[in-house]
Amino acid sequence: MTTDTSPSKHMNLAVFLTADGNYHHLGWRHPDAVVDGGSNFQRWVEFAHMAEAGKLDMLFVADQIAIVGGSELEAITNSSKVDRLEPMTLLSALASHTKNIGLAATAATSYWEPYNIARMFGSLDHISGGRAGWNCVTGGQLEEAQNFSRDRHEPHEMRYERANEFADVVMGLWNSFDADALLYDKKSGQFFDPSKVHTLNHRGKHFQVKGPLNVSRSPQGRPIVIQAGGSDATVEMGSRIADVIFTAQADFEGARGFYSQVKEAARQRGRSPDSIKVMPGLSLFIGKTREEARAKFDALHEMVDVRDAVEGLGRLLGGVDLSGYDPDAPMPPLEGNDLRKSGPGTFVRIGRENNYTLGQVAVQAKAARNHCMIIGNVQDVADHMEHWFRNGAADGFNLLPAVMPNTLDDFCSLVVPELQARGLFRTEYEGPTLREVLGLPALA
Ligand SMILES: Cc1cc2nc3c(=O)[nH]c(=O)nc-3n(C[C@H](O)[C@H](O)[C@H](O)COP(=O)(O)O)c2cc1C
Repeated sequence: MTTDTSPSKHMNLAVFLTADGNYHHLGWRHPDAVVDGGSNFQRWVEFAHMAEAGKLDMLFVADQIAIVGGSELEAITNSSKVDRLEPMTLLSALASHTKNIGLAATAATSYWEPYNIARMFGSLDHISGGRAGWNCVTGGQLEEAQNFSRDRHEPHEMRYERANEFADVVMGLWNSFDADALLYDKKSGQFFDPSKVHTLNHRGKHFQVKGPLNVSRSPQGRPIVIQAGGSDATVEMGSRIADVIFTAQADFEGARGFYSQVKEAARQRGRSPDSIKVMPGLSLFIGKTREEARAKFDALHEMVDVRDAVEGLGRLLGGVDLSGYDPDAPMPPLEGNDLRKSGPGTFVRIGRENNYTLGQVAVQAKAARNHCMIIGNVQDVADHMEHWFRNGAADGFNLLPAVMPNTLDDFCSLVVPELQARGLFRTEYEGPTLREVLGLPALA
């Protein structure tokens, strides 16, 4: 369909799951949705088996260490995100129920110490046989700060300063053991070779960490590192340390711009652009026909409070007060933020182009947050993915299933075979480790 400029043969696919699993904030109310994924481990075994049968690269557990909005519980009684399994505990258990799929989770640098992170993810890499991934985010919620003896969330710049040093320490600790450091020599009594175990002796602005890590070199050499975001700070840090970048990009132009920014930043650091996989999020409503897909979207959105969605759109646009506008009237003219080329402003632009009402724009933005959304049949979805993949906007995608398990099932049973038929996606896993599955170069 278009010119092939992508270096990889196959796209990489992750599924983004959090709390109960339903990405859409009202997904749990869908008649077929799971409601108890926040504490029922069996649901996660089913999710993981479905994703693994679909040959997805990785199951990613997003996380927050708080109930967001928890200071006004009455106002959030419709939120399913109040109950969630602790990600590392969850993934360690899932490791025993899966064989090939990567297992990644968020752990925020603001609320952990690097030694804990290096140890936890190093252990998960051992337990899973080389399938661990760490999503290194700074953490963005006031409610999280309040659970960790602070009354405010650090400013963006400060968070990234700490995060950069944090990640360096984690990487350093993961290099504590050479691959052949453990001798297990019963005869000589030498358990390990001291010349092959390295003490970090890190002394920096935020951390003093002596090391070595008390976990040996893991099957992947070290776990996969993911960075999530879209700002210059994300590109800066991601191009330095990340193997994968998750990002929210609402349209092709924005995604292509971000993709080339990351790849250029990698090049400038002397890294191969292929050593970082850029995976934008994709919110999907898939039907055998377009009408069926639209009906799935509408069924979910009938429950959304339009006023609430309009208020949320104002917030997404950076604090625009939309309360005086009629949700049933066309999008009002807005100054400034809505003119941005990517991000939530894209929903406004798309809405204008399609004569959507303010309410319709707000509901779409609420469904996808800052991510791209597709409502369509199998060909529509595959065409979209192929276009982004072949034209320098994505190495793969982070799937955001509105309703679990339905959306993931639709994707794996309908779209995966189409992508495979087009030669865009694997039919078998490439190897036992996540690094191999992602097609990343071996570590030096
Ligand atoms: C796909 C994706 C997943 C994310 N997962 C988490 C998460 O699990 N926990 C969290 O606190 N923030 C998460 N974030 C938020 C980011 O860490 C970051 O704060 C946000 O995207 C703003 O990025 P920026 O600072 O680069 O603009 C995620 C972002 C994206 C795009």
